[in-house]
Amino acid sequence: MIEVVGLTRKYGSFTAVDDVSFVCQPGRVTGFLGPNGAGKTTTMRVMVGLTPATAGRVTIGGHVYQDIPNPGRHVGVLLDASAQHAGRTGREILEIGARTMGLPDSRIDEMIELVSLTPQEAKRRLRNYSLGMKQRLGIAHALLGDPSVLILDEPANGLDPAGIRWMRGLLRGYAERGGTVLLSSHLLHEVEQIADEMILIGNGRIVAQGDKKTLLAGAAKGIATTFVTALDNPALAAALSAKGITVASAGDGLRVEAEAVEVGRTALEATVVLTDLRSADGGLEDLFLELTADTQRETVV
Ligand SMILES: Nc1ncnc2c1ncn2[C@@H]1O[C@H](COP(=O)(O)OP(=O)(O)O)[C@@H](O)[C@H]1O
Ligand SMILES: [Mg+2]
Repeated sequence: MIEVVGLTRKYGSFTAVDDVSFVCQPGRVTGFLGPNGAGKTTTMRVMVGLTPATAGRVTIGGHVYQDIPNPGRHVGVLLDASAQHAGRTGREILEIGARTMGLPDSRIDEMIELVSLTPQEAKRRLRNYSLGMKQRLGIAHALLGDPSVLILDEPANGLDPAGIRWMRGLLRGYAERGGTVLLSSHLLHEVEQIADEMILIGNGRIVAQGDKKTLLAGAAKGIATTFVTALDNPALAAALSAKGITVASAGDGLRVEAEAVEVGRTALEATVVLTDLRSADGGLEDLFLELTADTQRETVV
C-alpha cells in the first residue's frame, strides 16, 4: 500500500504539488492522471526519495522509502526510462540491477522474455533503443526484484498499441496477484483502459479521486453538455456566449453547456461550419476536461 498524506512540494515560491493525499491499495491498479505539468512526476519523485517533500509524507507499506532495506525487492520504480548509462546494453543494465539486489542471473533472462525484448535487442546499447524499447527495459528493471509495489511514471509513452495492450495485461495480472500499482499518464484513454482507481491532478492539486465507476456515475449527472468543433471556434464561442450559454475550450474544440440541437442551431445562425458535434455521454474524457478545465493551457479567445 502507498499512502500519501498532505504532500506539498514547492520550488521557491512555486507550488508544484499542493497538499496532495491519496492511497493506493494492494490488488488495484491506480491511475494518476493529469495534464502536463500537473505535478505527477514530482509526486512520484518524492515517493522514492529523489526529491524531498516541503510538507507531508509518503509511506510505502508503512515505511518511508529511504528506510526500506534493499528497496528494489519491495518497490519497483520506473520514472525515466532514459535515465540509464546510454553506453550499456539492456542486459548489462539488468545485470547491474540483479547484482545490486542479490538476484540470480536467471532472473535477467526471465525479465527480458517477459517484456518481449529479443536476445539480440538485449545486447544493443541503450542509446540505440527506441523509446518503447526503453520503456520495456524499464518495466523489466522495475519487476526484477519481484516487488509488491510498482511505481511507473508514464510507462505507456512510446509503446505501440500492441505494447499498451501487453502492459495492461501485465499490470492486471500483477494486481490480481496482490500487487499495488501506481501509474501516471497525461492520456485519459490509457488510464481508463488500465486503472481500477483514478486520481486526477491539475495544477498540483487533486481534483477528483475514486474508483472508475463512481467517477463515471458522478460525471453522468448535471446539465446537458455538448462537445463541438468548428472551423471558426472563436466565432461559434462568441455566438453561444451572446445567448448566455456557457462555453469553454476543450481539446481542439469547445465544451458547451447546452443540448447539441441548440449548439447546431446557433452554428447555423452564425454561419459557422461544424466539423464535429456530439453530446457528452458523461464519459471520463468529459470529466477529465471538466475537472482540469482551469488547468488546461488552451483557452477560448
Ligand atoms: N526542479 C524543479 N524546479 C522548478 N520547477 C520544477 C522542478 N521540477 C518540476 N517543476 C515544475 O513543477 C511542475 C510539475 O512538474 P511535474 O511534476 O514534472 O509535472 P507532470 O509530471 O505532471 O507533467 C511543473 O510546472 C514543473 O515545471
Ligand atoms: Mg511527468
